[in-house]
Amino acid sequence: MNAPLIDPFARAITYLRVSVTDRCDFRCVYCMSENMTFLPKAELLTLEELDRMCSSFVRLGVQKLRITGGEPLVRRDIMTFFRSMTRHLEAGALKELTLTTNGSQLERFAADLADAGVRRINVSLDTLDDAKFAQITRWGRLLQVLRGIDAAQAAGLRVKINAVALKGFNEDELPRLTEWCAERDMDLTWIEVMPMGDLGNEDRLDQYWSLKDVRRRYEDHYTVTDLAERTGGPARYVRLEETGQKIGFITPLTHNFCESCNRVRLTCTGELYMCLGQEDMADLRAPLRASADDSALDDAIRAAIARKPKGHDFDYSRQQVAGQVSRHMSHTGG
Ligand code: GTP
Ligand code: 5AD
Ligand code: SF4
Repeated sequence: MNAPLIDPFARAITYLRVSVTDRCDFRCVYCMSENMTFLPKAELLTLEELDRMCSSFVRLGVQKLRITGGEPLVRRDIMTFFRSMTRHLEAGALKELTLTTNGSQLERFAADLADAGVRRINVSLDTLDDAKFAQITRWGRLLQVLRGIDAAQAAGLRVKINAVALKGFNEDELPRLTEWCAERDMDLTWIEVMPMGDLGNEDRLDQYWSLKDVRRRYEDHYTVTDLAERTGGPARYVRLEETGQKIGFITPLTHNFCESCNRVRLTCTGELYMCLGQEDMADLRAPLRASADDSALDDAIRAAIARKPKGHDFDYSRQQVAGQVSRHMSHTGG
């Protein structure tokens, strides 16, 4: 029974995001609180279990695997897992193996990732200013990330920069970030900040910078052409005709993209979240551990996909935060 995974809204699920750790060496203000309690290591799926989980999804039609965290590259021995996924690329079942990273460990891992068959990575970077970088990541060092990006490009990886659009924080950096990405032949994607996790004093409405406004800023300086192409993620792309570069927009707040959702998220403990913006999840660890044969796991995956909701309920339009989700973004890696 290897029928593809189709949800109640006739969407084919072909994209699995896998969080391999909830830990991170940064503490980005919109992602984590400063004092996070992390899961005990004993709770985590082992690398072998992660392999079995991912392999089941691939058998059921997943073609794109994105490894996330926390910060995926701080998981011990993570390259063993990447290398084990290479076989699915080689077999042609998996079309893309990739990751979303804060870039801090890329100097160490870029060449190995390329060897494992990774071609393209997304690096989260909201500012090119040292002091602001330290402020937004609380613990991060910009230079380390820039070195990581250099290493990734040197290893032949294509790099896309993800910047969370933050009012009064990186608004003034739009030209600089855009030019920097153009010079380095990197795409740039802006993300609207989402209400996830209990973040203490962080005020979402104060932080929120609508991508409608970001687009208008581009239109003031460039000729902006909408592109039809997709990467299988939620971003919609435009081309700036003057530089030829691609800019992506991930707009959960201003333009809902849920109708074309193709993805689900597995956490490092084997919970499957069917939507980033909803609380419902299915435990896949129990059926995985219950038997060495995958049929119970397959059944649990299918039952979970049959519960996939229509979309998130994030909304700031009434001047208050609605649709908030209690878990932190680091739980599922975005
Ligand atoms: P590409 O393969 O380059 O298209 O990447 P992607 O956009 O699928 O992945 P990436 O990790 O770069 O995602 C960027 C951010 O988009 C995530 O961290 C999330 O914040 C957001 N995002 C991704 N998928 C969803 C989704 O299904 N719903 C919502 N609301 N946001 C999402
Ligand atoms: N809203 C939007 N994007 C977020 N990210 C983390 N927290 C949030 C949030 N609250 C982004 C990071 C990174 C990815 C994993 O998720 O910047 O690009
Ligand atoms: Fe770490 Fe990424 Fe979350 Fe920042 S956004 S704390 S880098 S997981």
